[in-house]
Amino acid sequence: MKGECGDETVESRRILDLLFSYMPKIAAERKMDNLLILMADLGRTMVSADRCSLWLIDKDADELWTKVAHGVDELRIPLNAGFVGYSVRTGKPLLIEDAYQDPRFDRRSDDKTHYRTTSVLTVPLLDTEGVVMGAFQAINKQGGSGVFSQRDLERLILTAVYSAKTVESARLIAEQEATQREIIHILGEASEYRSQETGDHIQRVAEISYVIAKLYGLSEEEAERIRLASPMHDLGKIGIPDSVLNKPGKLSEVEYGVMKSHAIIGEEMLKSSKRSLLQFAATIAGSHHERWDGTGYPRGLKGEIIPLAGRICAVADVLDALSSPRCYKEPWSEARIREEFRNQRGTQFQPELVDLLLAHWDEIYGPYRN
Ligand code: C2E
Ligand code: SIN
Ligand code: SIN
Ligand code: FE
Ligand code: FE
Repeated sequence: MKGECGDETVESRRILDLLFSYMPKIAAERKMDNLLILMADLGRTMVSADRCSLWLIDKDADELWTKVAHGVDELRIPLNAGFVGYSVRTGKPLLIEDAYQDPRFDRRSDDKTHYRTTSVLTVPLLDTEGVVMGAFQAINKQGGSGVFSQRDLERLILTAVYSAKTVESARLIAEQEATQREIIHILGEASEYRSQETGDHIQRVAEISYVIAKLYGLSEEEAERIRLASPMHDLGKIGIPDSVLNKPGKLSEVEYGVMKSHAIIGEEMLKSSKRSLLQFAATIAGSHHERWDGTGYPRGLKGEIIPLAGRICAVADVLDALSSPRCYKEPWSEARIREEFRNQRGTQFQPELVDLLLAHWDEIYGPYRN
């Protein structure tokens, strides 16, 4: 009796340690697939199962899908199939000792994965409104009797509550990020629309900036941020009068002065946002016309004082401007563009960035050839 009590305390502490060790990993994970794997892993350890998977309802397909099942890639089953389907349909948990003795068992997954299911736990996943959004399933209790206990069931329920919250907030974040991307795209297009350039151009500047950022050695995440934010570099052109923005031929000095204000206008528009990606876009808008030698605008920043993303976007922007027709110029030939970059190495542009551009010219310039 005393021994049992002691085991109980040790066991509770193990469960707490386990939860606390997973929480930071789960909190830091942004990708839904990885979250499902992490939480399935947590569930598996919580109840000492051989396998554990977190199934989510795909409403459009009337299916349940999971990314995990330890070793298996993505599995899909009909919404009503098997024990998981039972828990999803009824909102009730299940504790099964021998799956093959139960008529609700759907052995297709076993057949497909050459696996032998014996003991099973399933627990529904409820959203904040209490609506079933999926289910947890643990298979084959490890060690001891080989069957799950009531206590295991309670632990899987606890894991399911935590997981449901996690999935919900991950979905919310994904939704917000999608919205942000869409707004960014619309803002980028708005600036191009006014100046009669096509959406292709902003997309090209984004792609070229991304490639150069990667070549420069930035992480995938940093490069992706530049790809997302750079389409707004000319947002400030929205504030430039048509007579200047779309003037055929050369601008007068005064007109060019007006034109140059697009950098600071764009920066100001974006700076007011609390979103970090828009803040980053503000930095790019406000620095994409600085020059490496310090003679650019709006601030005349020099060298590495110029934010890196602005230095990168400058290269991409000019490559695109020279390759494309503008109201004031014809597209330049490939040879002439290369020559211009060589000439502006260390004056308009950071030397290393020009070197990368020229070394990877075919990869970067390729899309302009056809
Ligand atoms: P944009 O057409 O998108 O050009 C972006 C940038 O490409 C220019 O910024 C400039 O840095 C670069 N660029 C254009 N032509 C050359 C060139 O011959 N050599 C080099 N090294 N770089 C070049 P910039 O000059 O600050 O101009 C900003 C915007 O002002 C341009 O965007 C364009 O919309 C407008 N703009 C500039 N010059 C004229 C002009 O003569 N006539 C008209 N109508 N618009 C102009
Ligand atoms: C232009 O025509 O876009 C100005 C060229 C330059 O600033 O180098
Ligand atoms: C970056 O590392 O993503 C660029 C930082 C910056 O230029 O502000
Ligand atoms: Fe610009
Ligand atoms: Fe531009």
